[in-house]
Amino acid sequence: MPNDNWTPDQPLVSIKDVRKSFGSLEVLKGVSLDVMKGEVICIIGPSGSGKSTLIRCINALNDIQAGSITVEGQEVHTEKLDKLELRKKVGMVFQQYNLFPHKTALENVMMAPIKVLRKSKAEAEQTARALIKKVRLDGKEGAYPGELSGGQQQRVAIARSLAMNPDVMLFDEVTAALDPETVKEVLVTIKDLAQEGMTCILVTHEMGFAREIADHIYFTDRGVIVEHGPPATFFDNAQDPRTKEFLSQIL
Ligand SMILES: Nc1ncnc2c1ncn2[C@@H]1O[C@H](COP(=O)(O)OP(=O)(O)OP(=O)(O)O)[C@@H](O)[C@H]1O
Ligand SMILES: [Mg+2]
Repeated sequence: MPNDNWTPDQPLVSIKDVRKSFGSLEVLKGVSLDVMKGEVICIIGPSGSGKSTLIRCINALNDIQAGSITVEGQEVHTEKLDKLELRKKVGMVFQQYNLFPHKTALENVMMAPIKVLRKSKAEAEQTARALIKKVRLDGKEGAYPGELSGGQQQRVAIARSLAMNPDVMLFDEVTAALDPETVKEVLVTIKDLAQEGMTCILVTHEMGFAREIADHIYFTDRGVIVEHGPPATFFDNAQDPRTKEFLSQIL
């Protein structure tokens, strides 16, 4: 699985002409985009435009009908795919954080490294404690999910994903289900990560955040990328009528 030919001057994630259908419904109609190491890209667009589908194709939660997706040079959509290797490289956080309710924050973060990476308990715990600190939850190590706010649970979910030491993180509307007062703390956590150089692909409705954090914005509508560019160009000088219409409704 490791691709020895890949070097960091090539895209870490490369999506080329991807088509994806559910039955007769074509949801992605030839999508291409590249993400370089350390880049943060935001995907925005109306509901149903294919954002979640695209992001799920990157870590093989969805199959594709045509095109190609590579992660560090390795084709994702091939029978030869080693899913475990892919999951080690690509972390994903969803709107629903799905923590294990009967495990503490610390235990939730320790689990995958022990079960999947076969780390010792001591090593997993050391890493988990550091990650809980990183997402600014020191003191909550022993708390159960039910004792944490939505924003705190989401930060545990981010720490859990980071515990696999991924090279790229996918975030699909991770603040959409949160109370407004806890949205910010999650965005701060993601911003910290981005500033440390984590490669991030985010689907978000938080336009202020996208403008602040993204190197590049992609706007999707009905399965195609309609327009893309750096935030300043995208938000202040959108060209396509569909982008303008979308932005006029939300900004
Ligand atoms: N498992 C599935 N089976 C059938 N159709 C699906 C499936 N998942 C998504 N779709 C359809 O694919 C289209 C794109 O869905 P997707 O979830 O990717 O949109 P989205 O841009 O993420 O929307 P939202 O902003 O509401 O999250 C929609 O028409 C949706 O109904
Ligand atoms: Mg979605």
